[in-house]
Amino acid sequence: MLKKPYAVIILMAVFWGVQVYADGHKVAIASAHPLATTAGFEILDKGGNVFDAAVAVSAALAVVEPAGSGLGGGGYWLLHREKDGVETLIDGREKAPLAAYKDMYLDKEGRVIAKLSLDGALAAAIPGMPAGLVHLSEKYGQLPLAESLAPAIRYAQTGFAIGKRYLKLLKFRSGLIKQYPTTAGIFLNNGKLPKPYSILRQPDLALTLTQLAESGRDGFYSGAIAEKLVNGVKKAGGIWTKEDLESYQIVEREPVRGQYNGIKITSAAPSSSGGIVLIEALNILSGYNLQKTDDITRKHLITEAMRRAYHDRSLYLGDADFIDIPVKRLLSEDYAAGLRSSIRPDKALPSNMLSGEIQQQPEGTNTTHFSIIDDEGNRVAATLSINFPFGSGFVAAGTGVLLNDEMDDFASLPGAMNGYGLVGGVANAIAPEKRMLSSMTPTFLENDSSVAVLGTPGGSRIISMVLLAALDFAQGNGPDSWVRVPRFHHQFIPDVIEYEKDAMTNSEIMGLAAMGHQLKAARYRYGDMQAVLWHKTTQSLAAASDKRGEGRAVVGH
Ligand code: GLY
Repeated sequence: MLKKPYAVIILMAVFWGVQVYADGHKVAIASAHPLATTAGFEILDKGGNVFDAAVAVSAALAVVEPAGSGLGGGGYWLLHREKDGVETLIDGREKAPLAAYKDMYLDKEGRVIAKLSLDGALAAAIPGMPAGLVHLSEKYGQLPLAESLAPAIRYAQTGFAIGKRYLKLLKFRSGLIKQYPTTAGIFLNNGKLPKPYSILRQPDLALTLTQLAESGRDGFYSGAIAEKLVNGVKKAGGIWTKEDLESYQIVEREPVRGQYNGIKITSAAPSSSGGIVLIEALNILSGYNLQKTDDITRKHLITEAMRRAYHDRSLYLGDADFIDIPVKRLLSEDYAAGLRSSIRPDKALPSNMLSGEIQQQPEGTNTTHFSIIDDEGNRVAATLSINFPFGSGFVAAGTGVLLNDEMDDFASLPGAMNGYGLVGGVANAIAPEKRMLSSMTPTFLENDSSVAVLGTPGGSRIISMVLLAALDFAQGNGPDSWVRVPRFHHQFIPDVIEYEKDAMTNSEIMGLAAMGHQLKAARYRYGDMQAVLWHKTTQSLAAASDKRGEGRAVVGH
């Protein structure tokens, strides 16, 4: 039942041609797929709050963007509830199976067996997404889970037209998918790529989502679906057991927080490295007036900050439930000042002077992100993933659930690079029930006048993309600009600045090279940032979806 003041607001708003939702508030949603954004508004129309909308958008993305995220994966939902100031990170990251062990991807000589942690059932960790959806709905939503999952179930049953981005990623992973008849039966047409805009229906996934809607977490983690998942994985060479699924739990964590030039930053805590690396880099940069430096020096300083923050990622970060992370030190401004003192304004510091060996350039990125905010300040930033496009490529028969290949985000061998070229050590070694280190960076930025909610897919580059967007926010620009910012990236190893072609002029390339930087143009524009803004003083909302992707950003309708 609507309370009376809300009913009056709604009537007035309709009269003025502005659409508002059952609780009387306007809302901005930006997601990686138009149908996911629509699902969010459908649930708001039914009387849901932003957290119900987040359940609907997450589940819809699992269906309409199966290359990026899904029930077979995991992710992070960063929440803020305005009325009581509750701010929390739902860590729905996947966990290593109980039978996992440190050397499970190494051969007898101790070398990494290529692709074993990326392709097929052995690459799949225990999914956290279904548990995350249930928890988000039950603890923070106001509608029944079944109602919030309804749009996703409908999309899976009736199908949707596949776009060009989907086809590009499918082509990239089609060799793998062909090895698994169940997966090929869903995504390929008699072993061939489907035509653009043909309809993809996923009836088994619709049934699994319906089980989740009807039985909550038991609908996925025990009973018939769980049995099919475990049997399917085992038959395909994986190591899942019933206990793995039954014991999976999400964790609510205190987000990490920092300050940069009067902006409050709130972001993902470990098991993601995103928040710590972002804040550490911003702390280093807070000692410079970036708006007054020339473009070459600015890019040099940002690169050097990225190098040092990603270096600490490789040394210290992993699952906080398994290792002690010096969070206080890494987020300390004094520590950043020490790192800053090692930056020369005119010269790059080779990464091997920090430590480690120079490695090759990574390939492949996926994952997804959405952002929601209402005009009260309630908000969700969610980054969700199955890791590489189409994850492990493996679907257990009768489930429709494409399993992740997040095991590759562990350091299979200290110092060896993973699929994103990232290196790690003991902090991120494989252990039973441990969460693998992520780069997902769902983030809130807040100053006196506004609140931004943002994030992006993109593997190891996620953090540097959010960093560049945060610096753009600091310059007073809005969401359209943050998602457009031309991107460059340095992750300590490999020791190279990777840049989108429009991110560097020739003179910047020459200037940075003269300082000792190695540079390499990215083969394609990367990322798919989704961002929303609430302007507190004017009570207005704005939203933007990265033109590099096919998403949709909508304010209020
Ligand atoms: N799988 C990508 C990440 O978690 O960073």
